[in-house]
Amino acid sequence: MVNLQTLDVFNSIHSFQEDELRNKTVVVIDVLRASSTIITALMNGAKAIIPVADMGEASKIAQNVDSENYLLCGEKDGIKIDGYDLGNSPFEYSNELVGGKTLIFNTTNGTKAIKKSIGSANIYIAAFLNVSAIIDELKNQSQDIVLVCAGWKGRLAFEDLLLAGNITHVLSDGKLPDDARDGTKVAFGLYDKYGEDILASIHQSNHASRLKKLIGDDDINYCCQVDTTEILPRLKEGMITLTNG
Ligand code: MLT
Repeated sequence: MVNLQTLDVFNSIHSFQEDELRNKTVVVIDVLRASSTIITALMNGAKAIIPVADMGEASKIAQNVDSENYLLCGEKDGIKIDGYDLGNSPFEYSNELVGGKTLIFNTTNGTKAIKKSIGSANIYIAAFLNVSAIIDELKNQSQDIVLVCAGWKGRLAFEDLLLAGNITHVLSDGKLPDDARDGTKVAFGLYDKYGEDILASIHQSNHASRLKKLIGDDDINYCCQVDTTEILPRLKEGMITLTNG
């Protein structure tokens, strides 16, 4: 049974300190696109994903592993990094390319949010693609829950907060207690207003506009799909792998 009084929503990586997550179950949300890409890579047979905070950490790991089994992946400001094997479009993560491989993954906000959550009790990765699987898992957690929205460079991102709102709506059966945390109330209220049409409202968001200029609509449409998989990515000992089939 989820304690809705203690559940909290942090709206960007700059909105909390690491010690606020200690002993908690954390769900990291980066709908556009890191979470959606991680889920897709695992769906398509990637063995594991190593999230890193920056290019320096990515290169250090890449120098010490064999390039047949590892791929260097990610983006800066939405664009594939020069010399990397893959960028951050979920469409790049096909079984042919990622099957059986371990991915060193470096993104502008998403992987930084995951790294900042490392001291917590459990860390799951959520997107609209796997929202019901995440909610089912949270119903079985005994720890307090924090939904960490990656946001964009310290600001909130609409699509991340909308997913946090979706999760709080379902967990509370649409009736949030009056003494719920402020962050939870804001996410819940956002979903109340915009949750009817996830695709259309996310298309109006700041990061969707940014991505449209760079790469068009396809990634946004893909990441707005709901419950296409029951995959539950979880970070353990520095690697994201599957907790289920
Ligand atoms: C991020 O980590 O900020 C994003 O995934 C950026 C992107 O859309 O590539």
